[in-house]
Amino acid sequence: MDREVENSRDSEAPSGSPAVLSSGDAARLDQLYAQLTEERKVAVGYPCNQKFDYSPLYRFLEFAINNVGDPFSGSRFRMNTHVFEREVVRHFARYTGIASDECWGYVTNGGTEGNMYGLYMARELYPNGITYFSEDTHYSVSKILRLQHTRNIMIRSQASGEIDYQDLEESIRIHRDVPPIIFANVGTTMTGAIDRIDRIIEVLQRACVANYYIHVDAAFSGLILPFVEDPPPWHFGAGADSISISGHKMIGSPLPCGVALVRKRYMERISRSIEYIGALDTTISGSRSAITPLFIWYALRSLGDAGFREMVSHSLEMAASAETRLKEIGVPAWRNPFSVTVVFPRPPAAMLEKWILAPYRNICHLITLPNTTKEQLDVFVRDFKKALAENQNAAPPVPPLCRP
Ligand SMILES: Cc1ncc(COP(=O)(O)O)c(C=O)c1O
Repeated sequence: MDREVENSRDSEAPSGSPAVLSSGDAARLDQLYAQLTEERKVAVGYPCNQKFDYSPLYRFLEFAINNVGDPFSGSRFRMNTHVFEREVVRHFARYTGIASDECWGYVTNGGTEGNMYGLYMARELYPNGITYFSEDTHYSVSKILRLQHTRNIMIRSQASGEIDYQDLEESIRIHRDVPPIIFANVGTTMTGAIDRIDRIIEVLQRACVANYYIHVDAAFSGLILPFVEDPPPWHFGAGADSISISGHKMIGSPLPCGVALVRKRYMERISRSIEYIGALDTTISGSRSAITPLFIWYALRSLGDAGFREMVSHSLEMAASAETRLKEIGVPAWRNPFSVTVVFPRPPAAMLEKWILAPYRNICHLITLPNTTKEQLDVFVRDFKKALAENQNAAPPVPPLCRP
């Protein structure tokens, strides 16, 4: 029998108030809590900052609130946090090189929705456009393109994970009669590589393409680059038309979230009014979380730019340390500039069993975050060394898939 069904049957049915759980069910929640507390210590392969405290916001969980509609246009359903959501968008406008009165955006369910929004906007502006994206692009993008029935071409990546500009140029030249929609990665999923917007624009100019659209997927690095010295050109200031950034990655949040940003004049072309919600329908989701905008707002206001700078600098320091220490034990680890993604050859199975890691073909990575500690890296490197020693007589280590 299914274990979940079995668990629910062998415990007493709840009695009295529906809010009271049976002792068996309560024990299951305790067990889950204990399990997650342990797993958090070994979760190093995904960009989910675990360090946050939103307890001052818990009281808002008593309301059935909903941010349906355009955060900037108001809604008949006033049980919302649109005011805070607008402030979040204005903060992100400042981080992404655009005047706040020229930027429109909203809080999404995560990076995927922001990418879908950017590609939706691009397709509305250029219905016959072809989308170009590199082979290192997040897996959800080809799904979005399938959903939208948009013509698309996958471009080769360089060894580092950055788009191959020559392949991009050749492909665009073949289809010069069709407006290109460029899907640029600012921090690829596996290697943290950055597709440079200035180089992409040079490609477009050399190909004499006047009409184009650039969407930037800055899911993770969008909250790293505003806080480093001399970042590569990556945002609206460099020529992006829309940007997607995840909220639960660098900021950290128990609920997935993100921000979709677009040049306001484009959004005005697609919005339409819906009478019964008394709002403009400009977002992808209808009902939307009213809690996540509060989380992001709270982090932005309580940490401030100085707090974010510190989080990013700590994460970069930890990444440099992880890279050095892995090299010291013979693991050829490497990193892209401005990245906290430390790439190394796929480790022995024992490492994948103990640690929460994200292997892909013959590479794997460790992602350092504000919650990463020196002690955690000590244990990780010690385990890696031990696993390599135990694996010595097994197959020889596979060389990394890509190394710049
Ligand atoms: C580069 C990139 N884009 C998009 C996504 C999807 O973001 P989300 O999981 O927030 O939907 C990810 C997730 O890891 C990512 O790494």
